[in-house]
Amino acid sequence: MADPSSYSNTDRYNISHISLDWKIDFDVKAIIGEVRLTVRAQRHDEYLILDTKHLEISRVELIGENEFKHLNFHLEKSHDNFGSALYIDTKNIKDKEFRIRIFYRTGANCTAAQWLEPEQTIGKKHPYLFTQCQPIHARSLLPCQDTPRVKFTYAASVTVRNPLVALMSALSKGNVINDDDTITYNFNQPVVIPSYLIALAVGALKGKDIGPRTTCWSEEEILDSCCFEFSETEKFLAVAEEFLIPYCWGKYDILVLPSSFPFGGMENPCLTFVTPTLLAGDRSLANVVAHEIAHSWMGNLVTNSDWQHFWLNEGFTVFIERKILGKMYGEKVRQFESLIGLKELKESIDHFGVDSPLTKLVPELDGIDPDGAFSSVPYEKGYNFLYYLENLVGGPTMFEPYLKFHVKKFAFSSITTDQWKESFIEYFKDKISETRMNEIEWTKWFKTPGHPIITPNYDRELELSCLDLVEGWIKSNVELKRKIDFTRFTTKQKIMFLENLMEAELTHDIIHELDVSYQFSSIKNSEIKFRWQLLCLKNNYKNMIPHVVAFLSVQGRMKFVRPLYRALKNCVGGRDVAFSTFETLKSFYHPIASQMILQDLNK
Ligand code: BES
Ligand code: ZN
Repeated sequence: MADPSSYSNTDRYNISHISLDWKIDFDVKAIIGEVRLTVRAQRHDEYLILDTKHLEISRVELIGENEFKHLNFHLEKSHDNFGSALYIDTKNIKDKEFRIRIFYRTGANCTAAQWLEPEQTIGKKHPYLFTQCQPIHARSLLPCQDTPRVKFTYAASVTVRNPLVALMSALSKGNVINDDDTITYNFNQPVVIPSYLIALAVGALKGKDIGPRTTCWSEEEILDSCCFEFSETEKFLAVAEEFLIPYCWGKYDILVLPSSFPFGGMENPCLTFVTPTLLAGDRSLANVVAHEIAHSWMGNLVTNSDWQHFWLNEGFTVFIERKILGKMYGEKVRQFESLIGLKELKESIDHFGVDSPLTKLVPELDGIDPDGAFSSVPYEKGYNFLYYLENLVGGPTMFEPYLKFHVKKFAFSSITTDQWKESFIEYFKDKISETRMNEIEWTKWFKTPGHPIITPNYDRELELSCLDLVEGWIKSNVELKRKIDFTRFTTKQKIMFLENLMEAELTHDIIHELDVSYQFSSIKNSEIKFRWQLLCLKNNYKNMIPHVVAFLSVQGRMKFVRPLYRALKNCVGGRDVAFSTFETLKSFYHPIASQMILQDLNK
């Protein structure tokens, strides 16, 4: 079955290597480039079909031994989400493997890239550019087979003006200063990757080593706090390597992006991208780094073959993330993280509706924008399924060797849910009883919308005091409130407290008293701030609106801004503010975030 999110004819042709030569032009906000593709023909076709989106293609040539031969091409009509198919005439190409080069430039509506003016950076002196290709935005950066079932190695030369620094999801191969006061940075990614893992950042960047294979990168002004926040990185890597296979990407660097970065983290190989909203000052949100590290195996080595199987990336990654945390901080922490995950799952299901096909573990995405389908479902339903399976086969001692087997078997390839299922059955068929195996209701897990068909009983110890305190507030039980010391809660317990409080209707007096007692309105931690503001909006607590607008103006992480815009729109007195705030801020957000917020507001 073809990837419903790509036009490319991957049954005929597969890209095996990409070589990029890019000039980054901040004046016109475009990448001007040449891409060379090495293509293997499974079976020849009349056309090689590539994905593009808002690209201006000027020339396509076949690379011969001594000459370049012109190739005819045309672009199909453009689709809002999927872009336009580039048809390259291959009728005269007979080689099993051939190389072509394409001259092109990115368009004004490139959805992968965000271009920041100097004023939008911390240092205010230099512009900034960063990309986000997952799931289907690589096509707005370069013509390619923009489907995760195709994997290739890549090399790149990126020319920027001095003194800007370019980083990519690859190993650095040094740089050259040119006569015209530009610098060319060279990169190589020797491990095969899918197109969505191509990434670039350009800015006034500084790096500092925080581990044997980790450099932390950011603008100079925040570099020290970044290094502090992510100091556990090497430990996360080492713990994962203990139960998986050795980390195979060489370097694991971290880049802390400008605040409009639309995600918490992005597992770009060799260079994880993270949001500065993780800078809590106490390492309390560093689990996002453990998560991105887990992708080094789950997703980046074993990859979902298309976005319908996204849970194979994210469910497995959350599972590994929580194993790392469990091994470092104790099983109770893993259990508690699982409970927080269930809350996020419930919110996603409430948002889409329990019957929505998008709440299936394996949704059908024909004609559907994968950005619009994004939710906690693949993460948390996938996690719950794997946790259920771990216990079914006999616990971690049985399951961890299996995880290693899984990674070894499928590394460097892309798989579907059925391929995974077959291999699971094959591995366990003589390790567990037939009755056990037959208990697994595969199809129900994959295709039933709504909540997981079985929810494991996680250990609730760390949750208890959170729930007691919630009861104290809801029932105005002074004794309970006094007994439980909120200030001694961990960040995750504070989050759990707010998650539960949000399920109740609260009077404005209670909200005011909560704020006076715990100083919520001045808490800096982004995860706590986000939930506090959401809670206030849900209870029509209008005093919070200016604070919400302020938070919406300083960061563009979709996990925070999308629910806040939706809640603001539905809050008494918030509707007009939601629209006018977005109008003022839309160019501050990354194009993907902007598009999603707009869709939310117009629903
Ligand atoms: N790969 C995702 C981010 C992503 C998903 C980008 C889909 C584009 C499309 C990343 O690994 C992720 O899951 N980030 C989370 C971290 C969290 C689950 C710990 C995030 O951004 O919040
Ligand atoms: Zn992830």
